[in-house]
Amino acid sequence: MDLVIAPPYSPSGQARRSMQRHSAKGTARVRGRYGDIGLSDRQPERAGRRGEETVDIEEALYTTRAMRRVTSDPVPMEVQAKILDAAIRAPTGGNAQNWRFLLVDDREVIGRIAPVYQHSIEQLWQTVYADRLSAARARPDLEESVSMLKVQRSAQWLADHFDTVPLYLFGFVQADPTGGSIFPAVWSAQLAARAQGVGSSLTVVLGYFHPDEVFEILGVPTDEHWVMACCVSFGYPTGRWGVAPRRPVHEVSYRNQWGSPVGFTVDRPLWPGTPGSGE
Ligand SMILES: Cc1cc2nc3c(=O)[nH]c(=O)nc-3n(C[C@H](O)[C@H](O)[C@H](O)COP(=O)(O)O)c2cc1C
Repeated sequence: MDLVIAPPYSPSGQARRSMQRHSAKGTARVRGRYGDIGLSDRQPERAGRRGEETVDIEEALYTTRAMRRVTSDPVPMEVQAKILDAAIRAPTGGNAQNWRFLLVDDREVIGRIAPVYQHSIEQLWQTVYADRLSAARARPDLEESVSMLKVQRSAQWLADHFDTVPLYLFGFVQADPTGGSIFPAVWSAQLAARAQGVGSSLTVVLGYFHPDEVFEILGVPTDEHWVMACCVSFGYPTGRWGVAPRRPVHEVSYRNQWGSPVGFTVDRPLWPGTPGSGE
């Protein structure tokens, strides 16, 4: 299974020269405390693909969704490298790249964060989502209730199994008044993971309810104005990929003036895949 964005992967002359400066025989090296990972500049890596079909960019766009239910199988280092190397190609305001990405796969560290995450989710249900959840429980037959209760069950699964998920990515951003500079990269990481058959789910509850505890556990400096933007879970899905059901584009889009019709109607996803639950 390959993500065929620009097949076959063929770096530009400048990119190729840059890679070759860091490599022998056209193999880029990724250095880390776990050793060097060789990434061929000729062929997309296949590690971690789990024998899936080719995923093109449209399929990735349509089927990358919250995949919280994952196995505890580790995500190989070369897959992690591809995820992060894709992520850092994303834009930041002024190209400041005022971000840090902290991968966490140490069971002891994850075990310390798990109860903090569980408490954050409990808080979420009792505060931000309290009204929506009680409305959904009161009328479980309504479509939006079904959706709300499904999200809650899935999110609770992640909380209950936080310590079995193989990999987390914490995103930090600094001096970013918009708060938006890191999210293109985070979504790119999730798309890149999808291309490798790895499921992911963006979460923000830790930063909302317990940032100080997480900073302490992860050793994040507290005097450099880092903001924890998110924590993304990664792992191999137990369920199937599917198209995310959403309110159709013509119901949430306008043209030229607020409230004016966008000019087209899209009654079903414009990608011929099968709508599905995703997990
Ligand atoms: C900004 C943001 C914050 C989110 N925070 C959480 C979270 O704290 N915990 C969680 O389980 N999911 C979180 N999610 C995931 C959403 O619940 C999920 O994307 C949404 O329900 C749609 O899921 P679907 O793509 O599978 O349909 C967050 C998503 C976004 C974009």
